[in-house]
Amino acid sequence: MQLKRRLTEIRAAIGELRSNGGTIALVPTMGALHAGHISLVERACEVADHVVASIFVNPTQFGEGEDFDSYPRTEEEDAAKLEAAGCDLVWAPTPDEVYPDGFSTSIAVTGVSEGLCGAARPGHFDGVATVVAKLFNQILPDYALFGEKDYQQLALIRRMARDLDFQIEIIGVPTMRETDGLAMSSRNMYLTADERGRAVALRNALRSAADAIIGGAAVGETLGAAQASLIDAGFALVDYVELRDADTLDPVDRLERPARLLAAARIGQTRLIDNIAVNPA
Ligand code: PAF
Repeated sequence: MQLKRRLTEIRAAIGELRSNGGTIALVPTMGALHAGHISLVERACEVADHVVASIFVNPTQFGEGEDFDSYPRTEEEDAAKLEAAGCDLVWAPTPDEVYPDGFSTSIAVTGVSEGLCGAARPGHFDGVATVVAKLFNQILPDYALFGEKDYQQLALIRRMARDLDFQIEIIGVPTMRETDGLAMSSRNMYLTADERGRAVALRNALRSAADAIIGGAAVGETLGAAQASLIDAGFALVDYVELRDADTLDPVDRLERPARLLAAARIGQTRLIDNIAVNPA
């Protein structure tokens, strides 16, 4: 497995992979890899002949006061995990290869990026869309894989790829969970032992609310009860617990089509997100 930092080098390496024939899958990451990321690479190995993973902690998707500086950077360990999982190439660009001097373009995907995390983290999704569009143009993959854990991100990347005619199949991969059900996340490492013990309440609140809604309970009341249960479990603040259409992310107040229940809440200094499918019985 090779690791490249310069655009000329990665393009030459991609050219070599292409000259052997076969398809390429891209797994974009910000590093600090856990089993969830590795499941993306494993799925990528199944769908494509060659797999490229990117590692880039993208400054433009972090807001003022967020954890850009403290975000875990574990490149050596990440590279070893990627190689073991069957990755062919790692693209770990220097910041100036992604944002050269005078960089002045930003991609905004309206609709799906509004509300939910878009409301709590202004500018976040413009940063995500812009960097992912750049990665797509740098690697020119046939497939790109993203975790369902960041469900709103996945929806906006699908929309962007469609709107901008990227000839890339976007593949969503189910969330990997710890044995108690907590969604795997690079940010789980910020949790103290006590917070880690309580964090599973996020998944449990989603599961109970989803079961209640599938069973016919009123959506508004059920979401309110889920929020209250998170505060009772020790979360300091609930950004949202919402039921949205699984494709458009439009708000849903009656379960008539496949929907998604999404939540974000803060425990101590850490903001956790999770979501689950809610399908009509
Ligand atoms: O999900 C992530 O890790 C990031 O948002 C992504 C897609 C790699 C863009 O920086």
